[in-house]
Amino acid sequence: MDVVIQPTAEAAYRLVARVLAADLRRKPQLVLGLATGSTMEGVYRELVRMHREEKLDFSLCRTFNLDEYIGLPPTHPNSYRRFMRERLFNLVNLDPRNTHLPDGMAADLNAECARYEALIRDAGGIDLQLLGIGRVGHIGFNEPLSAFRSRTRVKALSPTTIAQNRSQFADPSKMPRRAITMGVGTILDTARCILLATGAAKAGIVARAVEGPITGMVSATALQLHPRCHVVVDKAAAARLKGRDYYRWTFENEPEWEPFR
Ligand code: F6R
Repeated sequence: MDVVIQPTAEAAYRLVARVLAADLRRKPQLVLGLATGSTMEGVYRELVRMHREEKLDFSLCRTFNLDEYIGLPPTHPNSYRRFMRERLFNLVNLDPRNTHLPDGMAADLNAECARYEALIRDAGGIDLQLLGIGRVGHIGFNEPLSAFRSRTRVKALSPTTIAQNRSQFADPSKMPRRAITMGVGTILDTARCILLATGAAKAGIVARAVEGPITGMVSATALQLHPRCHVVVDKAAAARLKGRDYYRWTFENEPEWEPFR
């Protein structure tokens, strides 16, 4: 794991977009794992800008989102399919047939989870996965006590996650209580991943995820086991990391990061 600290949230969004764009230019058929949530909006804004101004080409790229609410049709204002359409899919040249999210309306949810896993496998696995982190330390909707070897499955949302997201719903009492999410094991199988967190409210959970003991109570701690995971944070979200100076030094001196400094 390495930690990249950027001065502002904007700089953190831009850095993540630049890493993604570099991978996409190197491999146009990139298999991208995507996340939703307010943190990702800045990254998608920057990717759309790069598509328009720098001709960043998504035509051969395939995408797999981490999760989707159960019971919301794709057109619902709070569905993650709609979020992705409005922030990225409809604004760049992604082929809609290459964009995948779990179907939260499937009649047989377990079969849908197995289908999603098979689809990822058939695509050759995920090359680069974007991740946010929830207040409870979830990645995707892997709530506390998610097994580290779990695959895509149905998960009941924790009270903390419901409290985090319910205000986004016109009628908060209608927020689904369950979602389909890639498992922690699915995420650990990705070739490379980036956890992005910004803002002071994330400082405590970021410190636990990066420097705390590995525990099923905080799913993001599983990323300490990932062979190639970057944690990108702004100054505010980095505030409680004890190793800040070392992480800064590494970013400044590591040849891999040279194009992004
Ligand atoms: C969403 C997802 C979640 C969010 C997390 C952070 O697809 O997988 O894990 O990334 O809840 O959300 P924000 O960015 O809204 O704080």
